[in-house]
Amino acid sequence: MRKILSGLSIAFALCFSATVSHAQDAAKGEKTFKAKCAGCHGADAAGKPAMKSPSIKGKSADEITKAFSTSPKHASVKSLPPADVNDLAAYLATLK
Ligand code: HEC
Repeated sequence: MRKILSGLSIAFALCFSATVSHAQDAAKGEKTFKAKCAGCHGADAAGKPAMKSPSIKGKSADEITKAFSTSPKHASVKSLPPADVNDLAAYLATLK
């Protein structure tokens, strides 16, 4: 499984130029956002008053990591690997 995955990422790296691979990260971040964050922060990351969650549009990877370690609301997502957090930040940056 690991081998297949790293083979895939090499294939991706070969297929996309540096600029496009940034967009690729945001696309991956969007998937992670929809799966793990949208339930609380809203489909467009604008926050949900009912969940007492703020807008997280444009949040950086550092801000996300900090929110994961300081807020008990993030127990289910705090183990996301840094690469996923970077992809999330790339996606949130597109929402500003
Ligand atoms: C269970 C609900 C819930 C989930 C799931 C959740 N959050 Fe949050 N988040 C909150 C709440 C509520 C706050 C406000 C701080 C608090 O109450 O602890 C918050 C705060 C934040 C903040 C800080 C915002 C600020 O202005 O300080 C960031 C960044 C953040 N969340 C990112 C994320 C990301 C990225 C995900 C998905 C990986 C996520 N959250 C998933 C509920 C959630």
